[in-house]
Amino acid sequence: MATIRSAVRAATRASVAPRFATNIGSVQAVRAFSSSTARLSVREKEVPVTTWPATKDGPSSIPVIPKKQSEFEVDAAENEEVHPLTQEAYNKMSPTMQKMSVHGKTIIITGGARGLGNHMARACVEAGAANLVIFDANQELGEAAVRELYEKTGLPVTFFKVDVRDEDAINAAVDRAVEMYGIPDVLVNAAGIADSNIKAEEYDSKMFRRLIDINLNGTFLVSQAVGRRMIAAGKPGSIILVASMSGSIVNYPQEQSCYNASKAGVIQFGKSIASEWAKYNIRVNCISPGYMDTALNRVPALEAQKKIWRSLTPQNRLGAVDDLNGLCVFLASDASGFMTGSNILIDGGYSCY
Ligand SMILES: NC(=O)c1ccc[n+]([C@@H]2O[C@H](COP(=O)([O-])OP(=O)(O)OC[C@H]3O[C@@H](n4cnc5c(N)ncnc54)[C@H](O)[C@@H]3O)[C@@H](O)[C@H]2O)c1
Repeated sequence: MATIRSAVRAATRASVAPRFATNIGSVQAVRAFSSSTARLSVREKEVPVTTWPATKDGPSSIPVIPKKQSEFEVDAAENEEVHPLTQEAYNKMSPTMQKMSVHGKTIIITGGARGLGNHMARACVEAGAANLVIFDANQELGEAAVRELYEKTGLPVTFFKVDVRDEDAINAAVDRAVEMYGIPDVLVNAAGIADSNIKAEEYDSKMFRRLIDINLNGTFLVSQAVGRRMIAAGKPGSIILVASMSGSIVNYPQEQSCYNASKAGVIQFGKSIASEWAKYNIRVNCISPGYMDTALNRVPALEAQKKIWRSLTPQNRLGAVDDLNGLCVFLASDASGFMTGSNILIDGGYSCY
């Protein structure tokens, strides 16, 4: 399947301006070669249905109503509701669903002030978290996020203004969070930044270092701070690192060697500490998203590239801002007890080609 992507690249490279700023014509060329066209070429008008116990009318069929292209687009409207899992609702859940919840757990989320981290925080509240702690460098957004979560749920939620590059601030915040809520059960590392459309030969070394410092060193510092306390207390835990598909594939068409390297580092760091800390019952797994419809990507300069990204994604869309929620809750829950050292892609199929 790699040949499909090679064909797309070959077809576009000749006609597309280096940064794909507004070259709509070349975007259409990409779409013409995209395998999503081939994928949709087999279409049934009816789907046979067989039911057991058999109905008196015997087998039947249902008509297939084709979707319009626009219906594949992500609904960018964000669900503003947050429904905490009540004790009563938890008690009524089956054992399997109880195990898939995070009932009673204390969870720290970095980068939880907005975007994917914020939506994973909301999901953890809905899945039964007892306490939630957000670390984020953005004071205003962080304060607003915890106020909103508290007002909507009544759950204890605390925001610490922490830059994940600042080891002392991280340790102070983790210590205070432990005083308030006890040793955390779960850490979700979502804080991160992205640079793109910068050629490696032109990359400013200070920018390169800054990104590695936030995405990779920051992941190390927070994981170490929380992991140390879990180990010292003999408490089992789950650490979830938000990496990226860019840690496993090279994005196209934009050049972003530093981001890709930082996320590859996160994945390999995750596997390494998963191996080291398994003896302490600390599990470490990575979530690797594909292109997501978050503020990081909602900039006019990326519009033309987004068309290319969609055309290279089998689901023909960007991920919604809450598309990581289910996996995050699962990895945080005891239902994933035998999972550690995994790197799970959530990319609409992008990495299949
Ligand atoms: N959006 C995507 O397409 C995409 C794809 C793959 C992976 N990711 C990863 O997912 C994570 C979240 O991305 P997002 O799209 O929600 O981004 P976002 O910019 O919406 O949210 C990132 C959050 O991290 C915080 N943050 C940034 N630098 C920080 C620092 N030094 N210290 C503490 N907090 C800091 C920001 O204030 C923000 O609240 C990032 O690690 C990103 O690399 C995103």
